[in-house]
Amino acid sequence: MSDPSLPTLRSALGRFTTGITLITCIDAQGQRVGLTANSFNALSLDPPLVLWSLRQASPSLAAFAAASHFAVNVLSEAQIELSRRFASSVPDKFSAGAWNPGHGSAPVLTGAAAVFECERVSQQEAGDHVLFIGRVLRFSDAALPPLVFHAGRYHLLGEIL
Ligand SMILES: Cc1cc2nc3c(=O)[nH]c(=O)nc-3n(C[C@H](O)[C@H](O)[C@H](O)COP(=O)(O)O)c2cc1C
Repeated sequence: MSDPSLPTLRSALGRFTTGITLITCIDAQGQRVGLTANSFNALSLDPPLVLWSLRQASPSLAAFAAASHFAVNVLSEAQIELSRRFASSVPDKFSAGAWNPGHGSAPVLTGAAAVFECERVSQQEAGDHVLFIGRVLRFSDAALPPLVFHAGRYHLLGEIL
């Protein structure tokens, strides 16, 4: 076993393959806020709970800490450019993609593989991140092929034939 403080921890964690989400909310001024995140995961079915974590140093932290709701937009494979955009610091992230206000005005993305509109039920500091837990109030499932993230790179989903 390797020492978990080694820089190789990031690469070992990257073996765990995920989808990609854009997680969104509105800030106290009503401005849309969002970022690319792969820390999203299912937590509970009854009640329906999901989780994700946000870097403590993120400029988006104040908005998510104050927002009553957030939306998790699971990207389809056609939406890779949105993933890149929302992982950057461009000031006008929402000028690409078609967006509509969901629960609590959290932005919901057209063409996502799935969307989970959530009410925040818990928020706690966890190391250099803040862990958010949300209760799913509404969801949609477009059954589109998802964008996949593995070992620091984007992939398409492959099926075993
Ligand atoms: C594939 C991928 C997954 C990411 N997952 C997360 C995550 O789960 N939590 C997080 O805080 N940042 C994550 N990031 C980094 C943010 O997307 C990036 O820091 C972004 O600029 C944050 O927006 P902000 O600067 O407005 O806070 C991820 C980036 C990529 C490319």
